[in-house]
Amino acid sequence: ILPKNVTIIEVGPRDGLQNEKKHVAEKDKLQFIRSLQEAGIHEMELTSFVSPKWVPQMADAKAIVEKSERVGRQFVLAPNAKGAELAQESNANSVAVFVGVSDSFNERNINRSTDESMDALDPVIAKLKNDGVFVRACISTAFYCPYEGKIKQEDVLELCRKFVSMGVDELSVADTIGMANPVESYELFSSLKKEFPTILITAHFHDTRKMAIANIFAALQAGVDRFDTSAGGLGGCPFAPGATGNVATEDVVNMLDSLGIITGIDVEKVCIAVDGISEHVSHPIETGMYRLYKNS
Ligand code: HMG
Ligand code: MG
Repeated sequence: ILPKNVTIIEVGPRDGLQNEKKHVAEKDKLQFIRSLQEAGIHEMELTSFVSPKWVPQMADAKAIVEKSERVGRQFVLAPNAKGAELAQESNANSVAVFVGVSDSFNERNINRSTDESMDALDPVIAKLKNDGVFVRACISTAFYCPYEGKIKQEDVLELCRKFVSMGVDELSVADTIGMANPVESYELFSSLKKEFPTILITAHFHDTRKMAIANIFAALQAGVDRFDTSAGGLGGCPFAPGATGNVATEDVVNMLDSLGIITGIDVEKVCIAVDGISEHVSHPIETGMYRLYKNS
């Protein structure tokens, strides 16, 4: 049985833009965020408090959070104590920490081994929870790593157990380079739903090999009712070579609509948001629903 309702967590302003070569102006990011909220999106990753030397596109994080309308959960990413501190100073109500299952990816992304990152995050998460902040943990390379290949399911579960024992509210489990297949998706998400029945479980698929929508359907069958998606299919991690964008919000919502699953999101309004950002990114946007919208 499929879930009746699904929550979409829009990651376009963060995952979607972090890898964009052209600098996107603060006002254009804010307009993108506003138009996505107008489409009915209530959970969104707005930006990241990361080193501006590592990810220059996110250097305006403080202004983006402070100038965005508070609608539901407004996530900001934080890789360490400094990021969490900046997030709290800007009054973000939800923080996303992130770690890779594989050391080689984590070292390239955060400059630490996975264990070093986890040790450093333990007190950071404790403080956030103590201050009443919603904490989401993003788990990268949960299926494949660009440097180490296939990842063992047990290693993913073990990392998730550590995060749960630290008190996180949500696990967002990612196919960073878009290599998972639907059987792998079903198996991992079934195990996660079974082991962590009281934690929010979210699936985060990149669409590098065009299997993301099939993987989402498999995750739905495993009982997952939360998905990270990106308007226009924008996105990619600068430290995961070969990875392309996230699965497109408008295409996922369209599939869910056609299955009678409620998201509260208006596909046409998402396409309007995509249209607005399209002139500010350096590649054409060619998702299924956006193309139909442009040709209608
Ligand atoms: P480091 O060089 O080891 O950091 O980088 P450090 O602690 O040694 O500090 C060096 C400098 O950075 C210092 O400044 C710090 O103050 C500053 P300086 O004294 O040289 O002027 N610094 C910071 N500045 C702003 N915000 C901070 C911060 N921390 C330190 N939070 C660090 C370590 C984590 C900072 C760096 O590696 C980094 O910023 N990495 C970010 C990588 C990133 O953003 N990746 C993309 C997001 S994850 C993703 O996309 C995957 C996901 O979508 C799921 C999936 O698909 O897999 C979530
Ligand atoms: Mg991602």
